[in-house]
Amino acid sequence: MNLEEQIYLRKSCRKYSDEPVCMNMIHEFMADVKPLNPDIGYHYEILTKDEVKVRNRWSAPYYLALYSEKKDNYQENIGFVFQQLSLYLQSIGIGTCWVGMDVPKNKNSEFVIAISFGKSEAMTRELSKFRRHGLSEISDFEDERLIPARLAPSAINSQPWYFKHTDDGFDVYQVKQNIIKRQVLKKWNPVDMGIALAHMYVANENTFEFEIKNSFEDLKGYAYIGSIKI
Ligand SMILES: Cc1cc2nc3c(=O)[nH]c(=O)nc-3n(C[C@H](O)[C@H](O)[C@H](O)COP(=O)(O)O)c2cc1C
Repeated sequence: MNLEEQIYLRKSCRKYSDEPVCMNMIHEFMADVKPLNPDIGYHYEILTKDEVKVRNRWSAPYYLALYSEKKDNYQENIGFVFQQLSLYLQSIGIGTCWVGMDVPKNKNSEFVIAISFGKSEAMTRELSKFRRHGLSEISDFEDERLIPARLAPSAINSQPWYFKHTDDGFDVYQVKQNIIKRQVLKKWNPVDMGIALAHMYVANENTFEFEIKNSFEDLKGYAYIGSIKI
């Protein structure tokens, strides 16, 4: 299984077949997944469509409901962990879509977000078809090592990430949205940041390190999230 190659061809899947999925594959993959912050407890539940309040105009046969302890950076951690699962599912012919709009009928206060999934044939596209900001817009200078982050999925394709070069990697920032966008995106942008970091990890599996520094540069319009070595 090559997770990195999925980054360059994946797309959010919104068209599924009803074919059953073998859930053991999910449990096996999750036993070895890498967390961003190992101190945050999380878990997932697999639900069928009937167990979910679907607000999107499309639905999937299955949903992952993601739950976390509400410690610092828990949303980034959820994005980081479950984007690895999403890329894995994509690699075995199962499409996924992060769904901010759809929520379990029976959720508790630890619920963070859901991911729809199911067998599909509508989950890839050519690299030229990705709609994303240019590399020079997401960093202090253009750097091809950021392509995996650039291609990450995000809520309403908001792409809230910004990377500032350091001696051995990047300081990572999240765009501060204006007051109108903030209403919708404040819950999802931290998840998006974790997703982008997961793409950087998957593309640099042996060298990736994440830390939150005490001292970092304040950038106007951005909030510091952490720093990566790749
Ligand atoms: C946190 C998050 C929440 C999302 N919520 C929804 C949703 O409720 N409905 C939907 O159709 N797509 C949703 N998406 C998918 C995004 O619209 C999609 O990732 C983005 O437009 C980029 O397209 P791509 O994933 O095909 O590359 C969500 C994505 C993320 C990361």
